[in-house]
Amino acid sequence: MFLHALKRWYKIKSSGGSEEIRRHMSQVDNLLKKELPMDTVNVDINPSDKPACKYLQSAADNGLKHETRYIVTHLQKFTSILHWQYGYGKLPEDMKENYAYSEILGPRGLIKSSDIAVGIVLLAPAAFYHYHEHPDLTESYLNLSGYFSQNDQAVYPPESIVLNKPGKSHKITNDSSQPLLLAYIWTGSKEAISESRMVFD
Ligand SMILES: [Fe+2]
Repeated sequence: MFLHALKRWYKIKSSGGSEEIRRHMSQVDNLLKKELPMDTVNVDINPSDKPACKYLQSAADNGLKHETRYIVTHLQKFTSILHWQYGYGKLPEDMKENYAYSEILGPRGLIKSSDIAVGIVLLAPAAFYHYHEHPDLTESYLNLSGYFSQNDQAVYPPESIVLNKPGKSHKITNDSSQPLLLAYIWTGSKEAISESRMVFD
């Protein structure tokens, strides 16, 4: 399934020589190993859409061209039950049509966990995800489809992993020609995971 596929990526793929990214990838591999045998489906979560979901199909189709396609293929099997949300009390107006995320594993995910959160983020072409941070959480994005930039520092194609340490402010800009589909992973203390705070700067 999707989480097994993601775990495999974090287990075997390059960290680009970064010890810090390697540590995070190993931690994700270990946490997912612990969580996966106990898959507890959260029956209280109902499917829901956001306007950006109209880009999901084309994002997934584009995602099939890259090595991360086996993760996308697993994701496609359960897109109809995803619960898409904004996650912020006050979302900038321009993000309402262009952004949505869905937690798959975590305190509010389809599968419950208090040790790790895993989900996906979808951005429309040319979307701008304003500066935000996740206090007390280490975050990584794995790009599944599209081309994005974070903090104007680089262009990240599919298969890229970007690490955001706790409290690091980051913005995302998306290429104008295609949507962006990212997997995100949060690690941290049980308290930080259960709060899963996302705040705009
Ligand atoms: Fe983030």
